[in-house]
Amino acid sequence: MNDRRGWFITGTDTEIGKTFVACALLHAFRRTGVSVLAMKPVAAGVDAHGLNEDVERLLAASSMQPARTLVNPYGFRAAIAPHIAAAEEGRRIELPQIAAALATLLTMADVVPVEGVGGFCVPLGADPRHRRPGVAAGPAGDPGRRHAWAASTMRC
Ligand SMILES: Nc1ncnc2c1ncn2[C@@H]1O[C@H](COP(=O)(O)OP(=O)(O)OP(=O)(O)O)[C@@H](O)[C@H]1O
Ligand SMILES: [Mg+2]
Repeated sequence: MNDRRGWFITGTDTEIGKTFVACALLHAFRRTGVSVLAMKPVAAGVDAHGLNEDVERLLAASSMQPARTLVNPYGFRAAIAPHIAAAEEGRRIELPQIAAALATLLTMADVVPVEGVGGFCVPLGADPRHRRPGVAAGPAGDPGRRHAWAASTMRC
């Protein structure tokens, strides 16, 4: 597969099956010989060892094991809305950093499913762009690659 693709996995709510679907996609692609890497750009609920259950599940289903900082640039301790968890830690979710990590992952694997956090309308920050989660996960640059983030045109 020459056309490297990202898939944005979102849902109407938390605990709705995003990781389940992302892992199913990873396994299905791997069975066809396609290399896959998953990304969870923002995760709320990181344990004392700095690990998040979703990130570990996605890594276990991926073809390779890149640095966790690429797979999950933003992990927060509290399992609450990410912009609140970030504020509690005095941090801010920067969309360009997410886009850069995704761009790197897309150079490493043929397909990169990207799992959103919480439900579709969960904001990542106060900026209006942060209220369009597909934009947060979408790659900068080539519009041809943005089809997977068509949901980003929806407004919450
Ligand atoms: N299609 C399915 N059939 C049966 N069980 C499912 C299905 N999809 C998800 N589940 C179960 O529902 C629960 C939540 O699924 P999952 O962790 O994938 O949700 P999520 O949307 O990723 O949650 P989070 O918001 O925490 O990231 C899990 O226990 C999972 O095994
Ligand atoms: Mg999940």
